[in-house]
Amino acid sequence: MKNLLIQGDNLQGLNYLLQDKKLKGKIDLVYIDPPFATGGDFMISDGRASTVSASKSGAVAYSDKLVGKEFIAFLRARLELLRELLSEQGSIYVHIDYKIGHYVKVMMDELFGVENFRNDIARIKCNPKNFERIGYGNIKDMILFYTRSSNPIWNEPREKYTEKDLEKLFPKIDKQGRRYATVPIHAPGETQNGKSNQLFRGMKPPKGRHWRTDVQTLETWDESGLIEWSSNGNPRKIIYADERKGKRVQDIWEFKDPPYPEYPTEKRAELLDLIIRTSSNPESVVLDCFCGSGTTLKSAHINNRKWIGIDQSEHAIKATVAKLKSIQSDLFVKEPEYKFIKL
Ligand SMILES: C[S@@+](CC[C@H](N)C(=O)[O-])C[C@H]1O[C@@H](n2cnc3c(N)ncnc32)[C@H](O)[C@@H]1O
Repeated sequence: MKNLLIQGDNLQGLNYLLQDKKLKGKIDLVYIDPPFATGGDFMISDGRASTVSASKSGAVAYSDKLVGKEFIAFLRARLELLRELLSEQGSIYVHIDYKIGHYVKVMMDELFGVENFRNDIARIKCNPKNFERIGYGNIKDMILFYTRSSNPIWNEPREKYTEKDLEKLFPKIDKQGRRYATVPIHAPGETQNGKSNQLFRGMKPPKGRHWRTDVQTLETWDESGLIEWSSNGNPRKIIYADERKGKRVQDIWEFKDPPYPEYPTEKRAELLDLIIRTSSNPESVVLDCFCGSGTTLKSAHINNRKWIGIDQSEHAIKATVAKLKSIQSDLFVKEPEYKFIKL
């Protein structure tokens, strides 16, 4: 499949992908960042984006006039088509704000199934705001993550430990200078028979617990120096920091908006890199039908995925074309080949 950039209303665009391109069930990952029902216009002035709505000093990049029920109906029509396009191992991430997001969550539960709801990711979007208002400062929006089935593509992402993490989680240092922690070699729950209840170095697991693994493995660990014995003879397994792949990624993500966006509400490349690497594979097709300045498409290309982008705004298409062109000069990666279609 060729990469595709489509200019037009995405309702028409998604129908085109289903009917003309026969892509039903072929898309592994959808990320969308639709308008958030703010009721405003988003401007481009002096070639730069204004991320606040309704300042009338430049060209309107896109309007966000649908609110309330109308907005939900607008989004529902697109989500229904996106569900058709998703593969069995597919995932969808919907970026939305705290005002309308909970209504979108209820709708997505219905469309994709509560059992396929994976996360409501809090995305830290900006620095704390200190202007006076009744209510707490809002520094986050939300990304709703659903999968099409119980068997999605999932490449477990890991984060590097910080120095502080290392000191806290691996407080001990061995003779070779390696940081480590120790964990119990037994776990709750009694087993009457079986391999996890036998004698290890002459001892049984404590009452109400069983060995975490069979005794032969415990002996191998001990012989390889992977068991630390306390002064009162309590064995614990050694876990070295340098053998861990890093820490699990949690559901609060700090990817603040770019300080000088080229396009209003443009998102950070790193946000898309994380989503794309985790929920798609090389050669997967990634779709963003509210692609704006093409952040998703650029990230998909850099990560060796195929992509389809749709946007109805002339400014968005121009920004996308420029962003895709910049790949070669910024990153020394060959710029992508794609077909441009105007609907
Ligand atoms: C929030 S912006 C996306 C920004 C993008 N994530 C980025 O990083 O640049 C939303 C985009 O949706 C587009 N859009 C809104 N309604 C649309 C529709 N019905 N069909 C296609 N595009 C639409 C707007 O033109 C706008 O570019």
